[in-house]
Amino acid sequence: MSAVEQVFLERDAVSPVSYGEVFTRRWVVEVLLDLTGYTVDRDLGCLYLIEPSCGSGAFLGPAVERLIASASSLGRDLATLADAIRAYDLQPEHVRTSRALCRDLLVAAGAAQATATSLAATWVRHADFLLDNLGGREADVAIGNPPYIRYDDLDDVTAAAYRRTWSTMRGRGDIYVGFIERCLAMLKPEGRLGFICADRWMRNQYGATLRELVAARYSVEHIWTMHDVDAFEAQVSAYPAITVLANRPQGPAVVADTTADFGAAQAFALVKAASDSRFHDFLDAGVKAHRLPHWFNSGSFWPTGSPARLALIELLNDRFGPLHDPATGTRVSIGIATGADKAYVTKDHDAVEPDRMLPLSMRQDLMTGSFAWQGNYLVNPWDADGRLVDLADYPRMAAYLRKHPGLKDRFVAKKAPGSWYRTIDKVNAAVTDRPKLLIQDMKTSIHPVLEAGGHYPHHNLYYVVSDAWDMEVLGGLLLSRIAQAFIEAYCVRMRGGTLRFQAQYLKQIRVPAPDAIPGDIAEALRDAFCRRDILAATVAAAKAYDIDLSSYELTEGL
Ligand SMILES: C[S@@+](CC[C@H](N)C(=O)[O-])C[C@H]1O[C@@H](n2cnc3c(N)ncnc32)[C@H](O)[C@@H]1O
Repeated sequence: MSAVEQVFLERDAVSPVSYGEVFTRRWVVEVLLDLTGYTVDRDLGCLYLIEPSCGSGAFLGPAVERLIASASSLGRDLATLADAIRAYDLQPEHVRTSRALCRDLLVAAGAAQATATSLAATWVRHADFLLDNLGGREADVAIGNPPYIRYDDLDDVTAAAYRRTWSTMRGRGDIYVGFIERCLAMLKPEGRLGFICADRWMRNQYGATLRELVAARYSVEHIWTMHDVDAFEAQVSAYPAITVLANRPQGPAVVADTTADFGAAQAFALVKAASDSRFHDFLDAGVKAHRLPHWFNSGSFWPTGSPARLALIELLNDRFGPLHDPATGTRVSIGIATGADKAYVTKDHDAVEPDRMLPLSMRQDLMTGSFAWQGNYLVNPWDADGRLVDLADYPRMAAYLRKHPGLKDRFVAKKAPGSWYRTIDKVNAAVTDRPKLLIQDMKTSIHPVLEAGGHYPHHNLYYVVSDAWDMEVLGGLLLSRIAQAFIEAYCVRMRGGTLRFQAQYLKQIRVPAPDAIPGDIAEALRDAFCRRDILAATVAAAKAYDIDLSSYELTEGL
């Protein structure tokens, strides 16, 4: 048993873990120390390590152990190590515990009590890492497991102070984002940050500013997604990833996708494999890893998935443009939100004046794979120019809507009482008659259906319209496993396996230029789409993208 484990064991016997703190498992800590280069073969006494939120010392203990081992092997006096480490925590109790841990490790290594106590007090500080002045020294390594607290759960004053101080703390996010920003800001050139941390910031709106910052100024070295891995001593609901970022220009990045079988042995084997510059792929129980030649060089959403899939996404991103593209007049949008479907959506074709009845396409219309309208209408208060009609001109519609008093209670109505009968979104009349590919939200796979025109989409449908695409050819591409792989990499999978499609992700699907697809391949895509044959669509799409399906785990069933 290592000295640090001994100390934990003794301490835990007297004081059980409290404060709802999440303890990171020892092997995860060791892996992060290895990946950030905090290894005993170096003169760690010359390096400066920070732990922004040390808790009871899950990271600090092993780091101190390595520091002591390095100093001992080089004959360094432990008393000279005062500037090697700074660890912070907001809770005095955690500061005390971590200081005791450091002191005990130093004493066990032969330091005098007074030296050990003084070093421990110097190393571990009581501070709010996001607000306090921590001096201007630049760090070689920042390591830890930052706290997860949603901004909504902070008091207003603290939340406002954090947001004022850290530009990445946007939206309805979580404070670990600010911890990443401050640690990055503290790194020396070539310095590294190693966190076990939720990966949501890589794919959510609230992480956008942080992604932009990382893409512009730092590099992504490792992302090991560990959603099902036993990384913590307690069950946690966050989606953790081993995340290593560096203050240097972007080079290759190692991505790993893991299952619950991933543990210490595989993790150390991967550390070793990835340290070899010829490393390309790594496969072991519970893990597939891959070196990407570079990272995704923008602040837009960063994908996740198996390494082979990420390699596919990277290739598609490099070679092709996004589906949503003004150059081809192709738009991806979501259908209309009314704020009161009970009032605005009806199957009674005679509910109001005929020119106020707009045929509405809804989820039910897509069930069979071809568009089969179930007879729903939108009671449409908008004219062709996007203005609200005058109710005096439409007495039947006026009477109908007034029968729904709840309409006036909607936020949108209260904001502008004169427009109380508006739907939340306007109707864009130009869309109605255009052919549209409709894509239903919350499905396990992308399932585009062609609506030839004449219907307006409801809000749980996304739709694609285009000036340049033949919609059936595009439908073939979107039906293929290549589009599916793209969507899987960017979208959030909900419980039960359904994908939460969002317009922002659908827009990013990469497609060849419509006029670059040879006629026979276009015909094959059209034919596959019309027959709803996913495999045939995949084969034809592979030709259109000029890729080898077997390189990207896309051949199942072919
Ligand atoms: C998730 S725990 C991590 C503990 C430890 N690094 C580990 O891996 O087991 C986060 C710690 O952050 C501390 N903390 C929360 N907000 C903080 C802040 N603003 N500044 C410094 N520490 C903070 C909490 O007290 C808690 O000990």
